[in-house]
Amino acid sequence: MTRLPVSLQSLVIQCIALLLAALLLFLIQIPFSYQPVLWQAVVLQGGIAALFSRVWRQPVWWQALHALFLPAIQLARQANLPAGVYLAAFLLLVVFYWSTFRTRVPLYLSDHKAWHAVASLLPEGRAFHFIDLGSGLGGLLFHLESRFPQGRFFGTEIAPAPWLISRLRGWLKHSQVSFLRRDYTSLNLADFDVVFAFLSPAAMPALWQQAQSQMRSGSLFISLSFTVNTRQPDRVVLLAEGTRHTLYMWRM
Ligand SMILES: C[S@@+](CC[C@H](N)C(=O)[O-])C[C@H]1O[C@@H](n2cnc3c(N)ncnc32)[C@H](O)[C@@H]1O
Repeated sequence: MTRLPVSLQSLVIQCIALLLAALLLFLIQIPFSYQPVLWQAVVLQGGIAALFSRVWRQPVWWQALHALFLPAIQLARQANLPAGVYLAAFLLLVVFYWSTFRTRVPLYLSDHKAWHAVASLLPEGRAFHFIDLGSGLGGLLFHLESRFPQGRFFGTEIAPAPWLISRLRGWLKHSQVSFLRRDYTSLNLADFDVVFAFLSPAAMPALWQQAQSQMRSGSLFISLSFTVNTRQPDRVVLLAEGTRHTLYMWRM
């Protein structure tokens, strides 16, 4: 079967599971004149969806999400929450996850271990321009700015809420970090000596192409967690044993 993005696969799975659950319950009613209650239908749909998710070899946590999706909606319905709560939750997700559907890169944050490891790869005692592609809440950049006074730091972020939060944090800290609200694909990476990315496997092939065609010879391309298939990294830093948190560095 063609590999659809997981989000679209999941939509298909949920719809098919809904239809199958309705059909099964309808068929059971004929010989047994059994009238199922809504909760049974909901749990059956979740079970079927989780099974399809497994068959489609989605990551394990998606199976749990599929099993719980409709039951969670039913629970929320029973809680009689005002409609505004759903609207607020939806808007909150929109401003934080903006174009994740298209970019396939959600917001999740790097930690102190990763920040220290990135710092260990940066040039001491000389000026350089550093950019975090998809800068989230700006944590890495604030950390590096405090350690490398000679560096100039930039972040670019597509989602409005993380961008706004990093701007506010920068203002409160009197930071010189520049936060752009731009899609990194529209930037010229030749403007930077060090390009850092913590994105997703889906984003890496196109980003690597962009880096190869734009970055200057001798500049550094650093990726947290996600490597590229076409060239071995020049340096690999393991952040923690047994986890997939690894830093990859290429000298262009
Ligand atoms: C995994 S988070 C990394 C956050 C931050 N770099 C860190 O280390 O904590 C990836 C971020 O990239 C942003 N993003 C995804 N695609 C992007 C794009 N094309 N241009 C700019 N930002 C993007 C997402 O909104 C998300 O906030």
